[in-house]
Amino acid sequence: MDFDKPLISPSIKRWPSFSPPLNIGVLASGNGSNFEALVRSTYKGSLNATVSHLIVNNPNCEAINRALKLGVQCDLLDHRDFNKREDLDNEIVKLFKAKNIEIIVMAGWMRIVTDKLVESFPGRLINIHPSILPSFKGIDAIKNALNAGVKITGCSVHLVSKEVDSGEILVQAAVAIDKHDSIESLSRKIQVEEHKLLPIGVAIAAKRWRGG
Ligand code: GRF
Repeated sequence: MDFDKPLISPSIKRWPSFSPPLNIGVLASGNGSNFEALVRSTYKGSLNATVSHLIVNNPNCEAINRALKLGVQCDLLDHRDFNKREDLDNEIVKLFKAKNIEIIVMAGWMRIVTDKLVESFPGRLINIHPSILPSFKGIDAIKNALNAGVKITGCSVHLVSKEVDSGEILVQAAVAIDKHDSIESLSRKIQVEEHKLLPIGVAIAAKRWRGG
């Protein structure tokens, strides 16, 4: 048995091919490492897609610098400029529809989304969460898993529904917790898996959307 090999389930047998390539929009609020991993998976040719638009809500987030480096169009929609959550989501829908975005990926998007966004992209709004859902929903998922003393945690890519972290699970990866792990060390291990898992989750949702 290979103790270092993480378990990913269910996976895909091969990368699907899309003609024309899938058009992806990303929402991010922070570091943006998942955004960058997704873009790089399209450069490598694993995910047959173009990440054509990033929307951020935080003017100081690192995701903006990553978009500049990668040449991805980035727009700032600062949530503080909107009176209601619905107004922000309306603007997101408007910008993404104008660019013919097919799949929206929430990659560290720290806003609660409204029905407007969920219903405008049914089956095509995806989130990545750092736990094996339905365990440890919400913020502090990694800290809560450590405190609970579980021996295995991981990450999940799922469809977004109206309740937080509750939509259909598309794919998950397991990460073993070592007795010496801190929040930082465990976060690093989970992120390694997230970067591999997110393109797979997108491919699963995209196959359903495009058919095949
Ligand atoms: C990830 O751990 C993701 O699971 C959670 O937010 C984090 C975003 O990390 N939703 P990054 O900004 O992509 O580095």
